Amino acid sequence: MKKYDRRGNPVFYGAQGAIDGLDRAADMLAAYKADTLGAIDAVIADHPDFALAHAVRAGALATATDKAFEDEALKSLTAAEALAAKTNEREGLHIAACRAWLDGDLAKGVELWGKASMLYPRDLTALQFAHAGDFFLGYAHMLRDRVARVLPQWDRSVPGYGFVHGMYAFGLEESGDYAAAEEHGRQAVEINAEDGWAVHAVAHVLEMQGRTKEGVTYLANSAAGWEPGSGFAYHLWWHKALFHLDTNDAKAALKLFDEKVSAGGFGQALELIDGSALLWRLQLLGHDVGKRWDDLVEKWESRVDHGYYVFNDVNAMMAFAATSNVAAQNKLIASVRKAANGKGTNAMMSREVGLPACEGFAAFGRGEYAKAVDLLLPVRGKANRYGGSHAQRDMFSWTLTEAAIRAGDRALADAFVAERLASKPESPVNRAWAQRTEKLTRKQAA
Ligand SMILES: [Fe+2]
Repeated sequence: MKKYDRRGNPVFYGAQGAIDGLDRAADMLAAYKADTLGAIDAVIADHPDFALAHAVRAGALATATDKAFEDEALKSLTAAEALAAKTNEREGLHIAACRAWLDGDLAKGVELWGKASMLYPRDLTALQFAHAGDFFLGYAHMLRDRVARVLPQWDRSVPGYGFVHGMYAFGLEESGDYAAAEEHGRQAVEINAEDGWAVHAVAHVLEMQGRTKEGVTYLANSAAGWEPGSGFAYHLWWHKALFHLDTNDAKAALKLFDEKVSAGGFGQALELIDGSALLWRLQLLGHDVGKRWDDLVEKWESRVDHGYYVFNDVNAMMAFAATSNVAAQNKLIASVRKAANGKGTNAMMSREVGLPACEGFAAFGRGEYAKAVDLLLPVRGKANRYGGSHAQRDMFSWTLTEAAIRAGDRALADAFVAERLASKPESPVNRAWAQRTEKLTRKQAA
């Protein structure tokens, strides 16, 4: 008899207990629970011939975009491929998608997970992997449209309905439709308070609209839902730290770094990215971050040689530039240059964005502010090509603005400040930049 999961997707493997176990793991994955891998491992321990369980484990590890997880991801993928004779079309697409991703063709991987989600619109995990892929590739509109493709096939009676709205909310936000994003995000959180991705979508809306005080309150008040058992909480706390920073409360931002953002020990690249991005902003604004870079530098150094995902490398460079670690900077630039000459999606990202960005941040670290502007300015408009969110890539605008002011370049500083004030006129950070730029103007006019 043909077997199905609880969302009605066909499963080749015959043991209902295994299918139910993977369903539970899929829900945990969608809620970004920390022990998702443990749940998948428990299924595999009892059912080592369950190909889809191996493929989902591989996908979860692969979409963490961290070289440190690559061996484990490949191990699971190889196990899934060895079971190819015991799979159906949907499961075959999961395996092929993961193979393409781990072979370095991220774009093909996303399309294959995306194909699985179109052919099987209630395959929550395929949609989630494609959604994550769209994020890492900077496909802002696909974050929205890939979810829109399947949304009509979902209703409240289908388990996981809220998660689909949470994904849609984030896609709407990255596409600039903030009102609809907030509506879908809040609706998803109402359905499931543990849906950290939906909370994240609302947080991004508040970030983009400069609603900083609301952001602080929203994340504080919703944390009881999304924090327990989460493997994603560090990022939501990072967002809260950004809100504090933009209300001129660096002390609260540093406290969050110490107690929450660093709580996982920076065991994965995604945590390291948030650590770097927060400390860089704090340091850029002139706040003393003490010895907080040390741990980040050490952990980034172990990842320098990888040429794996250049978004990680640029955030590593911030740590090396902020601490004037020239040896690490040079090693990293050599590695990114090598990756830029290679093949696959990361080669394009490294050429287009990663290499000039790394060189730009290194120049800033050396105090060569005019050079930093020259290197970072051409990257600003196309930075989406190396993935991440608007809020993350705002780093380019922050650094360009500060560099132009420090370089005494009034014309560019005026332009960068005007750009920032247009979207966040009330921001104390933006207003402080405006005031410094005005002083620069008066000094030059005197
Ligand atoms: Fe975010």
